[in-house]
Amino acid sequence: MKKIDPKTELLPENREKLLRAAPLLTAWFKENARPLPWRTERDPYRIWVSETMLQQTRIEAVLGYFPRFLEAFPTLRALAEAPEEKVLKLWEGLGYYSRARNLHKAAAVCLEQYGGALPGTAAELKKLPGVGAYTAGAVASLAFGEAAPAVDGNVLRILARFLNDERDVLQPAVKKEAEALLKAVLEQQERPGVFNEALMELGEVICLPNGSPRCSRCPLGGICGALAAGTEKDLPNRGETRPRRLEKKTVLLLRCGGRTALEKRPDKGLLAGLYGFPMLDGELGRTDIVPWLSSYRIPFRDLKEAGRARHIFTHVEWDMTAWEAETERELPGFVYADDAEIRERYALPAAFKAFRDRPRTGGELE
Ligand code: ADE
Repeated sequence: MKKIDPKTELLPENREKLLRAAPLLTAWFKENARPLPWRTERDPYRIWVSETMLQQTRIEAVLGYFPRFLEAFPTLRALAEAPEEKVLKLWEGLGYYSRARNLHKAAAVCLEQYGGALPGTAAELKKLPGVGAYTAGAVASLAFGEAAPAVDGNVLRILARFLNDERDVLQPAVKKEAEALLKAVLEQQERPGVFNEALMELGEVICLPNGSPRCSRCPLGGICGALAAGTEKDLPNRGETRPRRLEKKTVLLLRCGGRTALEKRPDKGLLAGLYGFPMLDGELGRTDIVPWLSSYRIPFRDLKEAGRARHIFTHVEWDMTAWEAETERELPGFVYADDAEIRERYALPAAFKAFRDRPRTGGELE
């Protein structure tokens, strides 16, 4: 996969690629835009309400609420002058109720400060309660034609794939760069709002998340970096490639007459509920293990190091050191099994297999 070095100036190269994509994208949108209720009239108030309802919410959920809300509050003034309970009532079931409260408050601000209209720039819109960078960009571009980017998870996913960029899209620097890049592209568009809305549509209909893009129907398929590289299902990177946490562990091979102690692991965490060899946190040495064993008040002998192993999980890596000892009786709180039983009855997780079937040695009880 191609890595983008933030030190090199890649903005122009990516801007060229996106400028090539723009006419393909907007032509596709013209043909394929879904007839959503807020698309019928390009009224700033309607656009603002729809963008607010669409925050963190699926289109299908919004479809029922939007017409009812607009019927109850057909204008910004009607919303500003309504009692809050009525606004909340019409929002009931849509969730994230602070959105409704902020919408109501912002309507009052617009009435007081902007003569009952929404301010016409992203910078001013962002000052209203509940209006973040995405919503400000969406409203400013869709309603007022400003070349303002509206970058959300959908847009970041499209860019990561289109540019075959494997950086973590959750990093603020990646989002900032996306905003700068899109701004540069939007400035070249006759209708920036159409470009932004086409990107939204692509993210909701074609460039779908969770490794399931519908590339065969994508207007950008012919020039998509990820599709060319075969990485379309792996991108975007949402932090999965962050370095694994390295954890040191001490594994105890507690023998008693040909059997070895096993322990059921806790119900939560790695290998939850499975049987494994007893394990202690950290890389412990003889001076830690002797008191641990002695606390059972059962004689033991042959305490010695029994090898090391590493095991890699998705987000964690165990660096394990094993210690072995023979006890005179079985320690309470563990189950004991011989090698055949460990193989057949207990599905020993792969992390422990390096320590299974070690040759045994004899000695004197301590
Ligand atoms: N998601 C957010 N805003 C949207 C819009 N205007 N159209 C489609 N999907 C959206």
